[in-house]
Amino acid sequence: MTTDNMKKAAAVAALEWVEKDSIIGVGTGSTANHFIDALADWHSPVKGAVASSDATAARLKAADIEIYDLNSSGTLSLYVDGADEANPALHLIKGGGGALTREKIVAAASINFICIADASKKVDVLGGFPLPVEVIPMARSYVAREIVKLGGDPELRDQFTTDNGNVILDIHNMKITDPIQLESQINQLAGVVTCGLFAGRPADVLLLGKEDGTVERITA
Ligand code: 5RP
Repeated sequence: MTTDNMKKAAAVAALEWVEKDSIIGVGTGSTANHFIDALADWHSPVKGAVASSDATAARLKAADIEIYDLNSSGTLSLYVDGADEANPALHLIKGGGGALTREKIVAAASINFICIADASKKVDVLGGFPLPVEVIPMARSYVAREIVKLGGDPELRDQFTTDNGNVILDIHNMKITDPIQLESQINQLAGVVTCGLFAGRPADVLLLGKEDGTVERITA
């Protein structure tokens, strides 16, 4: 099975959590796109969705799914999104697509967070994938120096601006043994909007599409 088909299998499996006529949160990336495609064909249509990025909003609109503003939707029953890495506690690295801040907001405002991914995303220790950090542009150099003090190698993401008008520093070479502590340390740096560690608010369920076509369900 291709990686893309594994992502698709995980995305389709997430439909089990979708309630008819609900407003749900939808993440960003190729796996989340498979989820949007599956939602569009689903026999229990949702009332609408809160999008975690402009790209997701455009795809939802194209699928005729109504977009809601998080400020008017209230608490969401469900958020479905992909990840770049997941550890056994369902702490995640996210933000490979640069949508980490809005993703973190929608995840925080949701009761259930179902993470969908192909099996390669499951790791024992986070940090093989460079950790994205969204930074206010004027703080870029300061935050990079502070990240070096924390033991990481920050790299400015080339030619990239987030939906919020900020830049991304990708932190290489960090073995993240305490994701909850590191998330709060990085988030406290002046100029950081948020980092791509989802540890304080991890996923509730991880659906992993596997080589053999099955989907493994992991709860923390
Ligand atoms: C975007 C994300 C994505 O969920 C993450 O990058 C995984 O992407 P994909 O589903 O394409 O593998 O965090 O900001």
